[in-house]
Amino acid sequence: MLMRGKTILLGVSGGIASYKAAALCSKLAQAGANVRVVMTESAAKFIAPLTFQALSRNDVLIDTFDEKDSSVISHIDAADRADLVVIAPATANIIGKLANGIADDMLSTTLLAVTSPILMAPAMNVHMYEHPAVQENIRRLRDRGVIFCEPGEGQLACGYVGKGRLAQPDEIYARIAALLHPERPLEGKRVLVTAGGTVERIDPVRYITNDSSGRMGYAIAEAAVRMGAVVTLISAPTALTPPQVAEWVPVTSAMEMFEAVMVRFADSDVVIKAAAVADYRPAVQAEQKIKKNEDTLTLTLQKNPDILQAIGERKTFQFIVGFAAETERVQQHAMEKLKRKNCDLIVANDVTQEGAGFGSATNIVSIFDRNGLVRSLPMMSKQEVANQLLEIVSSRLG
Ligand code: PMT
Repeated sequence: MLMRGKTILLGVSGGIASYKAAALCSKLAQAGANVRVVMTESAAKFIAPLTFQALSRNDVLIDTFDEKDSSVISHIDAADRADLVVIAPATANIIGKLANGIADDMLSTTLLAVTSPILMAPAMNVHMYEHPAVQENIRRLRDRGVIFCEPGEGQLACGYVGKGRLAQPDEIYARIAALLHPERPLEGKRVLVTAGGTVERIDPVRYITNDSSGRMGYAIAEAAVRMGAVVTLISAPTALTPPQVAEWVPVTSAMEMFEAVMVRFADSDVVIKAAAVADYRPAVQAEQKIKKNEDTLTLTLQKNPDILQAIGERKTFQFIVGFAAETERVQQHAMEKLKRKNCDLIVANDVTQEGAGFGSATNIVSIFDRNGLVRSLPMMSKQEVANQLLEIVSSRLG
């Protein structure tokens, strides 16, 4: 009964993913929360209000003028009672309305009266999600403190494949739990996280990189912020929106990442190296586009500094977590890296496994220390991997 005594206002806006809000509503109610559902009229076309009424054991609010209790004004009362507001799914329309202060139905009117934290889980077509207007509205809301549960990538109801799928109810639930019970075991700790795949230029139009999306590192940075840490995120290029961290440092190459890490290392309590750093860079970066004059072209590559190893050699009080992306003999290679690079923990992912490693929304990892396996995690969202990893880190920091 994790959520007993908490009132959650669940806003359901109209999209095909509305049905998933029923699973979320059920989970919240089972955890003891008092769930008040507010639906848009469009949402009520996708899923019957009765479903939410039965799951939440509360009346469902849809019409601003349908005042059932004369002692209160429903939208103000619903807003006042909420410990947390969750909008799932959040359509482009409701995101746009809240960003622009529009109140023309029950849900949008209630949202303007809310003073508790708001968590939005967008779901829409990939092109709608990427539209500059939607992205601008999301940025505006983030700046005002609205928290977003990023949509997943995959097959969308409209037939497209891309980003826009509502986050899984389990993931939204985990975010809600973390928001309602903000344990802050990393309060005041300075946590440095690296993310993304470095880009090593060959010439002005070509480069060498890898498949890292930055998701794992960004999830760690966000989780560390939630746990109270002062977070610096050093990020190689990604398509992700920078999270709300104390310092966000965009870099491109391994050399730039090396410098950015080394400058900040002495002042960090914890360093987590989720980035996929190129081991080699072109020895010479051509100033002009290389012409295709010959049948073959040989590129000479020069070794990059190993950032993790460099900080491992210099560490005094810092707690260092490395990652190991492996394709075979995962434990053996991870343990070798942990020792060679003087890490306190290493997070090994077998990147050949479906749902693990580069690019995916999920990961499957095993966490090792010098004595061997600490925790083996089945497939779960990168956010959940981040939470569990940081739990272990904080318990070891004492
Ligand atoms: O970004 P995502 O798409 O979410 O994917 C996540 C991930 C697969 C990138 C992540 O989970 C991961 O495994 N990151 C480490 C990838 C990697 O480069 O592994 P490695 O085994 O090559 O390197 C081992 C460790 O040394 C890593 O912590 C790496 O950051 C570090 N390293 C490597 C080379 C180098 N020159 N400097 C380093 O610091």
